This record gives sequence, C-alpha cells and structure tokens, in this order.
Amino acid sequence: MRTCLITGTTHGIGTITAKAVAERGLRVVMACRDVKRAARVRDEIVETTGNRDIHVIECDLSSLQSVRAAAQTFLAGHEELHLLINNGGMMTAQPERSADGLELMFATNHLGPFLLTRLLLDRIRSSAPARIVNVASRAHYRAKLNLDDLHTLETFAPMQTYSRSKLGNVLFTLMLARRLADQQITVNCLHPGVVGTNIVPTNRLWLRLGGRIAKPFMLSEVRGADTSIYLALSEEVAGVTGCYFDEHQAVKAPSELARNQGEQERLWEVSSELCGLPVT
Ligand SMILES: NC(=O)c1ccc[n+]([C@@H]2O[C@H](COP(=O)([O-])OP(=O)(O)OC[C@H]3O[C@@H](n4cnc5c(N)ncnc54)[C@H](OP(=O)(O)O)[C@@H]3O)[C@@H](O)[C@H]2O)c1
Repeated sequence: MRTCLITGTTHGIGTITAKAVAERGLRVVMACRDVKRAARVRDEIVETTGNRDIHVIECDLSSLQSVRAAAQTFLAGHEELHLLINNGGMMTAQPERSADGLELMFATNHLGPFLLTRLLLDRIRSSAPARIVNVASRAHYRAKLNLDDLHTLETFAPMQTYSRSKLGNVLFTLMLARRLADQQITVNCLHPGVVGTNIVPTNRLWLRLGGRIAKPFMLSEVRGADTSIYLALSEEVAGVTGCYFDEHQAVKAPSELARNQGEQERLWEVSSELCGLPVT
C-alpha cells in the first residue's frame, strides 16, 4: 500500500490535497494539531472517496516535542512512506513565541517540517521511489534572512517574518533535493497561488478588512491545491527534483537568496542544531 503523510489537513489546501491523494487510493496519514477536527475531515474523506485507509495523528508543528512524538507514532504504525507533503503552516499578526521559545512562524512553518522530514527520512529512503512536497510561497521572494537573529521579536513584521519562514521552505527543499539526488527521492516546493483560506489571521481589524476586500480576487481552495496535487501525484514530475513551481504548475526560478548554496547549508546547520539533530 502506497502511503502518504500530509500535515495540516483540517482546513484549506491541505484538506483538498488529502482528499485527492485518498481518491488515488493511497493510505493517507493526516498529521494535525486539532485531532478532533482532523477526525471529522477524515470521516468526510472516507465517505466521499470510499477509501477507508485514512488515519489521524497528533502533530503540533510549532513544538519540537510534538513533532518528535508524531514521527514516532508514524514510524511505529506504518512500514513505508512514499509521499510526504509538508503543507501545514500559519501566519501571526503579532510577535509570538513557540513552546521552545522560538519565533512562532519560523518554528511552525520551517523548523517543524524540517524536523519531521529529517526524522522520517530513513523510512522514506527505504520506501523509494518517493516524493517530498513542501508548500512554500512566492512570499519568499521578498524575504531577508539573518540566521543570527532568528529569535528576537523586536524586528517582527507579519509579512516579513512569514516570508522568512517560507524562504526557509525553499532553502530546505533545494538543499535536501541535492542531498537525495541519487536516491530516487524527489523534493520540490511550490507556491499554491493567493488562496482564500484561513491563513490570514483575523484578530486584527486591518487584516480582517484586507482579507474581505481581497477574497473575491483569490483562488478557491480547490484551485489552490492544484500544484500540491500535481507534484504529489503526476507522472509528469516523477523524475523532477529541486524545483520551485508556481500556481500554474510551471517551474520558476526561486529567489537568488533561496538558490544560494551557502545560505542553504547555513540554514541546515542552524536548524539541525535547534532540533538537536546531527548536521550530516
Ligand atoms: N492561502 C494562501 O494564499 C497561501 C499562499 C502561499 C502559501 N500558502 C501555504 O499553504 C499552506 C496551507 O495553508 P492554507 O492556505 O491552506 O491555510 P489554512 O486554511 O489556514 O490551513 C493551514 C493548515 O495548517 C495547519 N496548521 C497551522 N499551524 C499548525 C501547527 N502548529 N501544527 C499543525 N498544523 C498547523 C492548520 O491547522 P489548524 O486547523 O489547527 O489551524 C490548517 O490545517 C501553508 O503552508 C501556507 O503557508 C498559502
């Protein structure tokens, strides 16, 4: 049975992607922080696709301990992993820290998926051919990265800090793809489009108003899942790795900073250290 692990399926792009993967007949393990809601989504997917092999595990991507526990649960329950989709992500309007004392968006959007992927890598290797799909964002183009200044909240600006976490996704994708190049494991990332989901926080008036005004111009969740589904399931990209795709499933050059191998390596080192993992 081909097995997929996907994070953040309680809302938005993740729900639609999980359903598409289930429709294809894969076993789907949904890693979510809100397990009650995830169970409701699972029941809905089972009912609409007829695929009963859908599972929920608890995983709060913002917590290193929760990610470790989720990886352990997955490894104990499933012998193979052919498709890992790092979809879960979030945005905050104000500076916040994770349980580990890190800036919350960096912790959730970059560090959690980094740790989860590293902990599952041996299982992915032994299941190859396999794919890793990272949901990044075109926001990464405007990101700056100061790896010595990841924890201070004084420089917090919602979009800039979110962009930095999404740059982390692209840097990680390109680095991991190089490392796995000869192992029949593809690693790609994508921008889903500007999609009308729950990603924009609503606890600030200006964001609420902005969200309401912009909504009619945004892609639907269904349309916003197209590129994730394409990278996860299409034969066209079976041998494609180390690429960034836009919302039209076209390969685009990521930012110059994202392509900088020195920055990729430095982020890998810093992230490994924060997760207590060996650099190699
Ligand atoms: N929407 C866009 O325009 C857009 C553009 C570029 C990139 N993206 C990326 O697309 C991905 C999916 O986002 P979306 O637009 O579908 O947003 P969404 O509707 O808010 O869904 C995000 C999903 O991630 C989950 N999540 C958030 N924090 C989590 C945590 N700490 N641990 C585990 N799961 C967590 C959410 O779970 P809860 O239900 O528990 O909150 C939800 O299931 C994200 O990586 C986002 O950065 C979105």
